[in-house]
Amino acid sequence: MKIFLDTAHLPTITQWLATGLIDGVTTNPTHLSKEGGDSTQLVKALCAQLGTGDVSIEITEHTPEKVYAQAQAIAALAPNVVVKIPCHKEYYGIIKQLVLEGISINITLVFSLMQGLMMCKLGVKYISPFVGRLDDIDVDGISVLHQLRNMIDQYHFNTQILAASLRDIRHLHAAIEAGADVATVPSAILEKAVTHPLTISGMVQFNADWDKLGIKQFP
Ligand code: G3P
Repeated sequence: MKIFLDTAHLPTITQWLATGLIDGVTTNPTHLSKEGGDSTQLVKALCAQLGTGDVSIEITEHTPEKVYAQAQAIAALAPNVVVKIPCHKEYYGIIKQLVLEGISINITLVFSLMQGLMMCKLGVKYISPFVGRLDDIDVDGISVLHQLRNMIDQYHFNTQILAASLRDIRHLHAAIEAGADVATVPSAILEKAVTHPLTISGMVQFNADWDKLGIKQFP
């Protein structure tokens, strides 16, 4: 299972890359807006920092014609760019065309099995079901992950499930159990995922016991 960081904050990404855990990054217009400055330069810096890891960058245009041209321009920014396009029927035709051109696409704002199936048929690299936003409207987001997993396995599609809008550890845990190919998580959730109080207290105890020996060098 791959872990992506859901942020455009370069220092946070750099910090987590050092752990060896991060396979990619997802951004959206909200993330880029938070960082401010020159978004094109930031995106290039993010892609360079990730090396070969996928970096999802979302389109900001609206008409299919403009989204198509913008998607091509975003894809040309770096070899590891994945273009994020919302799952709206207006864009189906250009999504297919971009896939045929060999551009990696991450379909965002996916909320149903039906939307997922349609995007798998178009051959996109990732679909991003938004778990937390489904929970927000009292629909079980995790059950949609399971539905998508079963559908992709049943029909042998190549599209990967990128579980997004994960708000807490319970969501991340459930995404793993549902067999998501990728989970994209904010730094705060990843921090919780790699921390366990029993590991900390165990280390404290081992250190205290070791210190009783009074050995200065070992081995
Ligand atoms: O990856 C998508 C994510 O950023 C959306 O999360 O919490 O705004 O629903 P949220």
